[in-house]
Formats: sequence, structure tokens, C-alpha cells
Amino acid sequence: MERLRMAVFASGNGSNFQALVDAIQEGQLHATMELLVCDRPTAKVVERAEQASVDTFLFHPKQYANREAYEMEILKQLEEKQIDLVVLAGYMRIITETLVTPYYGRLINIHPSLLPAFPGKDAIQQALDYGTKVTGVTVHFVDGGMDTGPIIAQRAVAIDEGAHSEDVTQSVQRIERELYPQVVQWFCEGRIQLIDRIVQINHS
Ligand code: GRF
Repeated sequence: MERLRMAVFASGNGSNFQALVDAIQEGQLHATMELLVCDRPTAKVVERAEQASVDTFLFHPKQYANREAYEMEILKQLEEKQIDLVVLAGYMRIITETLVTPYYGRLINIHPSLLPAFPGKDAIQQALDYGTKVTGVTVHFVDGGMDTGPIIAQRAVAIDEGAHSEDVTQSVQRIERELYPQVVQWFCEGRIQLIDRIVQINHS
């Protein structure tokens, strides 16, 4: 079977990027990491890509006339590299139809809450402030909205009495690093089916 060609978009630390690279190296993920797209030159994820010999498209949003202009440039890069799956992992920018339309169904994101609860920024802090006893991780397709696309997979994380944000963040990130490579592997195996907004995973 041909390996799925993936690109990751990230703006920060890149622990999810690393987990995907590691899963490929360990033979658990039958994909190739073709490209990192990053909007921040000082982000740790850029170093991680260099270490793993992954090509990086580093761009400065301010050097473009508008969002559409840099998204067109990103799209060109994705097409040149024949990317099958775009994986957002801590990419701190809104994605618009310039990318969503050509990649709908092949564009996924990971979010640190059980969506539709707590979309947007600081999702873990939002859950703590609200006082929920459970939060978690969601992997979903990206549509035009803010964390609103069809849900592919979710895992719950308990919030213990008196838990601090760092404790919950650690538990959430541990789950993320397992779940994201797993979901991408389901893609590779053709197990994911999207029917309207319902996602079915074929586990047989
Ligand atoms: C993760 O918590 C992810 O859920 C969110 O951004 C964070 C990125 O972390 N979308 P990292 O850069 O992969 O370490």
C-alpha cells in the first residue's frame, strides 16, 4: 500500500508533530512526513523538523497582503508536494476556505477539550474555570468554523479535585500524543468514512 503523504501545520512547541514523526520512525504509522508549515520562525517545532530532516515552509504573515495571499502560497506548497492529509497541531491561525475547500475531508485538527464544549483558545483553562469534572481531547475534520467540524475521535480526561492547569495539561497532552498518530493511521488504512457530519470508523 502506498504511504500517505502528510503535512503538519504548527506554531509552537510541536509535541504532536514529534509524536507523529516518532510513530513513523517506529513503524506504527504508515505515512511520510513531507512538510511542516509554520508561521513563527522561533517556534520549537522548527527545530524538531530540522532534527527529523523534514522540509519546512516558514512564512511571515505580515509579508503578505492578507490571509488569502499566504493561504494561496501554502496551497501551492501542498500541491507541489502532493499532500494527501493536512494535520493541524497547535497552528494558531484561522484557516479559511482557500485551504478548507480543496482539502475538506483531508484536513484535521486536535483540540484539548471534548468538543463542542470549550472551543477556541485556552480550552483547558476554560474547563477548569467552568468547573467540569471531565475534559478531554477531540480530533476532528476542519470546516469553516472555529473547532466545529465533524468529530473523528474523543478521549476523556478526569479533572481531580483541586487539580491545577499544569496537571490537566500534562494528562491531556499524554492522550494527544497517543490519539493523533492513531487517527492518522486509521486514515492510512482507509478506515475513516465521513457521511454528512457523522464520522464512522471501520474497526473490522
Ligand atoms: C495541543 O494541546 C493541541 O491540542 C492544541 O495546541 C496544542 C499544541 O501542542 N491545538 P504542541 O505544539 O503539539 O506541543
